[in-house]
Amino acid sequence: MIRIKELTKIYSPSAGQQVKALDGVSMEVREGEFVAIVGASGSGKTTLMNIIGCLDTQTDGEYFLDGEDISQLSSSQLSRIRSEKISFIFQGFNLIPTLTAAENAELPLIYRRIPAAKRRETVMRALEAVGLEKRGDHLPAELSGGQQQRVAIARALAADAPIILADEPCGNLDSRAGASVMEMLHELNRTGKTVVLITHDNGAALTAHRQVRISDGRIM
Ligand SMILES: Nc1ncnc2c1ncn2[C@@H]1O[C@H](COP(=O)(O)OP(=O)(O)O)[C@@H](O)[C@H]1O
Ligand SMILES: [Mg+2]
Repeated sequence: MIRIKELTKIYSPSAGQQVKALDGVSMEVREGEFVAIVGASGSGKTTLMNIIGCLDTQTDGEYFLDGEDISQLSSSQLSRIRSEKISFIFQGFNLIPTLTAAENAELPLIYRRIPAAKRRETVMRALEAVGLEKRGDHLPAELSGGQQQRVAIARALAADAPIILADEPCGNLDSRAGASVMEMLHELNRTGKTVVLITHDNGAALTAHRQVRISDGRIM
């Protein structure tokens, strides 16, 4: 489903300055896999995820998603692919602060022009699945970190995209809330979703089918 070959990413934060964040990374992820990308802070994990998630593009190398050459696509084609194929779960939750839990979970369905009645039903089921059916009217600030991450998972459930990209999803959570988020990611995987988990936590990584270790922008 994801095929990456000799991927390089160079940032140029200012004139004459260059940071090589990825240095010839090759990897594949098959449909239905649960893969952990593990590495220390600054090793290039988020850079890799941003490229896999079509949020950024590589400097050099190849990326095929579902057989499609991503480097050839326009930014509107990239956002269509993101909306159809990928759900993101971030360390900082990335919920919209002025929208309720239910409205946040509903957003991907609005982008996809799903009719309102169907949206409400889908969101209700997604919030139930993460145990937040009584919290739909709450704003993110009125929820704990663990609950906010469960809203992000409900948003992914509602969106029903085939790929879940989770970047340090438990990084801001206590161990109990983190364990519950990990359990929900595994449940999503059992229902057929392909999960790419980015983490520096070896324990969480070991629950994945496969671990890909990255160090200084290279796969070990
Ligand atoms: N937008 C950016 N501009 C310049 N350098 C960046 C940028 N994003 C990341 N980097 C650098 O690229 C390297 C990899 O960063 P990152 O992918 O965020 O690693 P990780 O997620 O593993 O902590 C680091 O040296 C970081 O400082
Ligand atoms: Mg990171």
